[in-house]
Amino acid sequence: MTKNIKIAGTSVFPIGLGTWNIGNSPSEEEQEIEALQQGLQAGAQVIDTAEMYGSGASEKIVGQAIKDYARDSFYLVSKVSPGNASKKQLPKSLEKSLKRLQVDYLDLYLLHWKSPVPLEETVEVMEKMKKAGKIKAWGVSNFDTPDMEDLLSLPNGKNCVTNQIKYNLIDRGSEYGLLPYMREQQLPMIAYSPIIKNSLQQFNEGQSQVLEELAETHQVRLQQILLAWSIRDGNTIAIPKSSNDAHVLDNIKAAQIQFTTPELEQLDNVFEKPTEKQPLALW
Ligand SMILES: NC(=O)c1ccc[n+]([C@@H]2O[C@H](COP(=O)([O-])OP(=O)(O)OC[C@H]3O[C@@H](n4cnc5c(N)ncnc54)[C@H](OP(=O)(O)O)[C@@H]3O)[C@@H](O)[C@H]2O)c1
Repeated sequence: MTKNIKIAGTSVFPIGLGTWNIGNSPSEEEQEIEALQQGLQAGAQVIDTAEMYGSGASEKIVGQAIKDYARDSFYLVSKVSPGNASKKQLPKSLEKSLKRLQVDYLDLYLLHWKSPVPLEETVEVMEKMKKAGKIKAWGVSNFDTPDMEDLLSLPNGKNCVTNQIKYNLIDRGSEYGLLPYMREQQLPMIAYSPIIKNSLQQFNEGQSQVLEELAETHQVRLQQILLAWSIRDGNTIAIPKSSNDAHVLDNIKAAQIQFTTPELEQLDNVFEKPTEKQPLALW
């Protein structure tokens, strides 16, 4: 039984749809739209995009994919680029994103990564956009523990509802420090690159062997094992990107995989848990 995740009071399916690198090629647009729609029909709700992705091209494709769906059937996330996170620029960026997405509001607006704009100012303008009904909630992305501590100590900083970070079996450094802190603050994580951008060739022999054994036991593909692992704590939404219908459906089905404790230990034996602070994994 798949457990939904609560984010800013809304309950969503734990596997969403990433959209980095879509909208870059006109000949692929139809398939990209189709794959997003397949995902929504199969139960995904969270769609993750950003003004930065293809300079708005990804948001445009998402807009086309969702335009005939009821607004409450998907949970739309976009991101403001750090250079646009000021009181003056953020409302303009948001307006452009809404237009490309063909919606009146975002469910969640994230600061894409740390900005030269003072954080207080970004928080203030995020709150203003919330009051104006342009966004339902706001959060951050690529923030490490000290950044989160700074944010949560600001006036209204505790209204941040998530931190989107890179998290997968190879990039699990955030398990030391950041994730325990986010759990303490009751902040769900949004995990990006949850299937390691499909660069499976980087696994060593031991890692490949364990992953293949688990895929065989659960009668699934290796990518589904990676994905299921990334959401195993019941406090994470993973946003794999796929423009392939079959992959999208596999990804959604991965939410059903439940690991036993010995299976998780087997994975820990080959993909080591961090034992000290590590730099935050990026991109
Ligand atoms: N906040 C940030 O700074 C940040 C940074 C990076 C990413 N993100 C977000 O996170 C999303 C996901 O991360 P990502 O795109 O870096 O990596 P990812 O989701 O780990 O991997 C995407 C790659 O895996 C392939 N793939 C997906 N499902 C598959 C399956 N079931 N079987 C085989 N291959 C599969 C995709 O190809 P096909 O299309 O052919 O399936 C694509 O090449 C992004 O799209 C973006 O929305 C956010």
